[in-house]
Amino acid sequence: MKAVAVTAFGEQPQLMDVPEPEPGPGEVLVRMSAAGLNPVDWKIADGLLKDAVPHSFPLVLGSDGAGEVVGVGTGVRRFQVGDAVFGQFQRPGRGGGSYAEFATAEEKSLAGAARSVPYAVSAAVPTAGMTAYNLVEETRVGEGKRVLVIGGTGGVGTFATQLAAGRGAEVIVTARPALADLMRTLGAAETVDHAVGPVADQVLAAHPDGVDVLLDLVGGPAAFGEATRTVRDGGTAVSTVGSADADVLTEHNLRGFNFHNRPSPQLLEILAGQLDAGRLTVPIGSEIALEDIPEALELSRTGHAQGKTVVTF
Ligand SMILES: NC(=O)c1ccc[n+]([C@@H]2O[C@H](COP(=O)([O-])OP(=O)(O)OC[C@H]3O[C@@H](n4cnc5c(N)ncnc54)[C@H](OP(=O)(O)O)[C@@H]3O)[C@@H](O)[C@H]2O)c1
Repeated sequence: MKAVAVTAFGEQPQLMDVPEPEPGPGEVLVRMSAAGLNPVDWKIADGLLKDAVPHSFPLVLGSDGAGEVVGVGTGVRRFQVGDAVFGQFQRPGRGGGSYAEFATAEEKSLAGAARSVPYAVSAAVPTAGMTAYNLVEETRVGEGKRVLVIGGTGGVGTFATQLAAGRGAEVIVTARPALADLMRTLGAAETVDHAVGPVADQVLAAHPDGVDVLLDLVGGPAAFGEATRTVRDGGTAVSTVGSADADVLTEHNLRGFNFHNRPSPQLLEILAGQLDAGRLTVPIGSEIALEDIPEALELSRTGHAQGKTVVTF
């Protein structure tokens, strides 16, 4: 079957022929209809998890995907052949991922796909959607809270904006002018153009009392430290890219942490329910073919991909 894979850490991802996977115990085999890109895909190709888990090469890349169940391993209870599913497929130890015509996943990494949207939309949701959901949950975002989302126009940011606004928070989000209207449609109360000047200065000029919660999805340690100036005394500051330093946060009397995602089938089910209820919009930036993935991963590396990129088969 066709897949996009790497033959070693740090190698360029390539379209290649690899053997079709077979479902082992507790695994589900899916004929992929769509796959969704995330920055973690190229990070895994670079060796993000090389000291944490074994990898098998060629390593098919891609976490997120959606499609139809075409086989189940022993012990699988929740799914049967013909079910429409979505979820996370990256299995470094098995050499498998979602950028392939067929992929296996552990049963617990999948849920029934939303019925009212195409597979391409479902495939865009798992990693970024579950991250955004856990971020707003763990920072107790809700009514009366002011939240600043830095990196707001990306995959995680567009979901976090909607979920935070849906909980009644006042959301300020970074966005270039071309995307300001979209972000308002998704629930942002205000946008700040990160390309024209320091975000912290712009936010503090409009809100001298600061924000309650900072969700920084892009900043390195220095940028994150600078952004924490916007957080009121006793507020919460979180980084999804490992930039939060516990000592610095304590010094400034802030609560905060480096976020680590905790995916679950229940969360996937909640997100599928929100898609079906029309409460979650998925801004798809581009829809591409399997052979276009290497180029799309290069764009993702720059940090300036817009919305979600999905592959349709
Ligand atoms: N820790 C975890 O468990 C976890 C989970 C999920 C994601 N993550 C990480 O979180 C990060 C974000 O993920 P994602 O899927 O949202 O990425 P993404 O979709 O690639 O985000 C790209 C967006 O970031 C914006 N951006 C880049 N630099 C910016 C800056 N300096 N200020 C404001 N906005 C900026 C870009 O807008 P412009 O082009 O307009 O600048 C673009 O819209 C990634 O590094 C990902 O690996 C971590």
